[in-house]
Amino acid sequence: MRHLLADDDLSPAEQAHLLDLAASMKGAPHVRQPLAGPRSVALIFDKPTLRTQVSFGVGVADLGGHPLLIDGALAGIGVRESVADVARVLGRQVAAVVWRTYAQQRLEQMAEHAGVPVVNALTDDYHPCQLLADLLTIREHRGRLAGLTVAFVGDAACNMGNSWLLAGTTAGMHVRLSGPDGYVPGPDMFARADAIAAVTGGSAAVVPDAVAAVSGADVVVTDTWVSMGKEDEAAERERVFGPWSLTSELLAHADPQAVVLHCLPAYRGKEIAAEVLDGPRSVVWDEAENRLHVQKAVLAWLLEAAQQDA
Ligand code: NVA
Repeated sequence: MRHLLADDDLSPAEQAHLLDLAASMKGAPHVRQPLAGPRSVALIFDKPTLRTQVSFGVGVADLGGHPLLIDGALAGIGVRESVADVARVLGRQVAAVVWRTYAQQRLEQMAEHAGVPVVNALTDDYHPCQLLADLLTIREHRGRLAGLTVAFVGDAACNMGNSWLLAGTTAGMHVRLSGPDGYVPGPDMFARADAIAAVTGGSAAVVPDAVAAVSGADVVVTDTWVSMGKEDEAAERERVFGPWSLTSELLAHADPQAVVLHCLPAYRGKEIAAEVLDGPRSVVWDEAENRLHVQKAVLAWLLEAAQQDA
C-alpha cells in the first residue's frame, strides 16, 4: 500500500509524474472520478486549517467522492482510543485518510493499520502536499525545476524547511536554508537530502547569512516564524528571526526573475514585508490554488495504486 507521509516517499520520477498529472488535471478538473460512488475520504484535523481543508474538500468532491470532515479534538485520536484502533475503523469505511497532526509517528501508525492510502496534510516534521504545490507553481512560472536555486529564509527547522530539503533535492534543485543558529534541520535530514541530491544533481546547504542565501536565487521562500504548536515560543522567535525577514531589500539580492513563495498564513511585517507578499514577484495565490490540483493528483495516483494492490 502506497502512502504520502514524507516528501522522500516519492522518487524523482514519481514526483515528476505527479506534477504532470496535477497540471493535466488542472486543465480538466472533472475528468478523473476515482472516488465515484461516491466513496468517502476522511479529512482529519488536529491543528488549525483553511487551505488544506478547502483544497482537500473540493478536491475529493471533484474526484467524484465525499469529503468526510473529522474534528481531531472530538475524535481524540490516541486519547479516547489508540491511533491503530482508529485506523482500523476508518479503513473499513473510507477510501483514503488525510490527516493533519503533530508527531509524524502518529501518521506512520495510521498508515500501518488503516489498510487504505494515508496522506500527510502537515505534521510537525513535513508538509509534502504543500511542496508539490510549490513545485508546480515554480514550474508554471519558471518553466523548469532542475538546476534552479531556492533560498528558504526564516524558521528553516520547521516542517517546511525539512520538506524543502527533501522535495527540492528530489526535483534536482539547489536548496539553501537560512536561519538563526539552532533553527536549521539536523544532520539526519541533510544526510537524506544529500543522498537524493547525489542522484538528481541538486544540492542542499545551510547558508546562515540571509543576503548570501538569497543572492542570485531563482526562488525565495519563507514561512511563519511561529508554526502551529510553537505558540509558547512566539516572543523568543520574534526576537531572533528579525534579520531573516523577507523584505524588499533582501529580495533585491535575488535573480531579477525570482518568484516568492509562502505557504500561508502570512504575517505581514514579520517573516515577510507586505510589499513583498503583495508585490510583483509573489506567486502565493497561484501557490494556494495549486494545493487543490496537486492533492487531487496525489489521491488519484494513490487510489489507483491501492486498486492494483487489491
Ligand atoms: N510551518 C507552518 C506551516 C503552515 C501551513 C506550521 O506548521 O504552522
